Amino acid sequence: MEGVIDALTRDLLTREAGFDWTVTEFVRVVDTRLPPRVFYKHCPELTNRPVATASGIPVHLQLLGSDPKALAENARQALALGAVSVDLNFGCPAKLVNRHDGGASLLRRPERVYQAVKAVSEALEGQIPVTAKIRLGFSDRRLAVACAQATQAGGAARLVVHGRTRDEGYRPPAHWEWIGRVRQQVSIPVVANGDIWTLEAYWKARTLSGCRDVMLGRSALADPWLAPRIRHWQRTGERLPETTWPMRASVIKEYAHLQRQHLPDRVVVSLVKQWLAQMRQGNEEANQHFQRVKRLTDLDTLLKSLVIDTAHPEAAVSCH
Ligand SMILES: Cc1cc2nc3c(=O)[nH]c(=O)nc-3n(C[C@H](O)[C@H](O)[C@H](O)COP(=O)(O)O)c2cc1C
Repeated sequence: MEGVIDALTRDLLTREAGFDWTVTEFVRVVDTRLPPRVFYKHCPELTNRPVATASGIPVHLQLLGSDPKALAENARQALALGAVSVDLNFGCPAKLVNRHDGGASLLRRPERVYQAVKAVSEALEGQIPVTAKIRLGFSDRRLAVACAQATQAGGAARLVVHGRTRDEGYRPPAHWEWIGRVRQQVSIPVVANGDIWTLEAYWKARTLSGCRDVMLGRSALADPWLAPRIRHWQRTGERLPETTWPMRASVIKEYAHLQRQHLPDRVVVSLVKQWLAQMRQGNEEANQHFQRVKRLTDLDTLLKSLVIDTAHPEAAVSCH
């Protein structure tokens, strides 16, 4: 997630079993081949073999653009740098991105989605997969199936569908049943995305969409133990306890500690507040902590005031 989930966050979120793969923030492609440093900035894991987080979870590189030729050139660049797959973003709703003909704006013309995926697929020559991410449409859902079919016809090996149109932004609900309609009209695996905040929502999204796999966005940050809870439940049918505040505070503290090794404290303060703001979603305790610290500007004071319990988060989870 752009501006929110970087390599360090991916590392933290994948330390416990839960995720099968992760995706980088999008690399914005306009009309040129970007230099390697841009790819390394978005995906420092490109220096690892395999390209994965420290705990071995693959990291897929995402491109966002509309010009098939430029996308193809940058996909080739990603391949040369060792990427394990290239994901194409057709879901970004940002006005600036859409005004410059990127992200969800292509969903108004399935033919353009097809051309973009096809160009990347041909550039990669089957050496690594191309995958895609779409929303249900731009203003309405009329072209949802056509866009999904365009990704498949272009050569996508897998499709993530965020169950909202661009105009719906991030407003609930995500239309999981619509993801199901799309899934039924393509033969590539479809992954359901949007508003999966809890174990119950996970199950409901799977049931309504008929998808085997789901993608977590904001909820991965709101509750860093949601994916491990889902995984544990899949494997054992047992429900692990809900994530406690000390567990959340502990991950934030670790995050701040790692970020301050290469960023100024004032930037880390903003990043910590940004993560805390995500944690407020559906969690009153996190909200109260956010309210208490939101005006603090000193990193050490902020971290101290998060009231860190001494219990280790993993211990808290695995005790059941
Ligand atoms: C701040 C922010 C940044 C995002 N950046 C990206 C991105 O770079 N690439 C992408 O595919 N989706 C991005 N998304 C969309 C999410 O991956 C996800 O599709 C969306 O938030 C819906 O899922 P959720 O309800 O689980 O959050 C972003 C979302 C947010 C809120």
